[in-house]
Amino acid sequence: MRDILVAGNWKMNGDAARNSELLAGILAGVPVSDRVRLLVCPPFPYLAAVAEQIADSPVELGAQTVSEHPSGAFTGEISAAMLRNVGCSYVLVGHSERRSLFGESSDAVAAKFSAALEGGLRPILCVGETLAEREAGETRIVIDRQLNAVLERVGIAGFGTAVVAYEPVWAIGTGLTATPEQAQDLHRHIRSILAAHDADVAETILILYGGSVKGDNAAGLFSMPDIDGGLIGGASLKASDFLAIATVAASL
Ligand code: 13P
Repeated sequence: MRDILVAGNWKMNGDAARNSELLAGILAGVPVSDRVRLLVCPPFPYLAAVAEQIADSPVELGAQTVSEHPSGAFTGEISAAMLRNVGCSYVLVGHSERRSLFGESSDAVAAKFSAALEGGLRPILCVGETLAEREAGETRIVIDRQLNAVLERVGIAGFGTAVVAYEPVWAIGTGLTATPEQAQDLHRHIRSILAAHDADVAETILILYGGSVKGDNAAGLFSMPDIDGGLIGGASLKASDFLAIATVAASL
């Protein structure tokens, strides 16, 4: 049976005091479970402080994006090695906000995924369709394109330590959630694409759902056979909300 990963994407929220309070709340209520793993992805400036606060706890650390370059004259960029150096184990790549607001193409996302692996990080590849794409019947085409860009770059072996997050763009921050059945359908599709390359990787990789996950819809989603946890935005900013989701995961 696969683990359940509950990952908080804090996006561009928080400050030193609020982060510390949020983490203290989370650390005080981590549910006891062999199967549930917790991850927080704070903004860059707070990574080192968060790493210190979660040391000796089961909570793991990730970043929200990474440079595709290993080092050099790339003003403002942050390399995978730097993220490792301050205690990250994971990094999100290709979040829909990066794709839509900052123009990250699938090729750029693939380059970041590759850079993350080379820097010793576990990439969490985010894929998902917009409402217009879903209504046009293009959901699978979009997801295939986003996945294949990375597969072409790193091969299936590159997914051995990775995580995939299916986040329908229309469900992010909107309060609209894919039904467990809608999400399961796409999760199974993602796993089947990977299985066509390597059955073992497909069987073991965690595929998270993201998009308005809350304590009261997590059970339905996480009970689905191909949904291995959640990538949580809004509900990761309040300890009680995040813990409600983690507690649901631990009860399954
Ligand atoms: P919400 O949980 O706020 O919908 O955000 C989801 C998300 O984008 C996580 O990466």
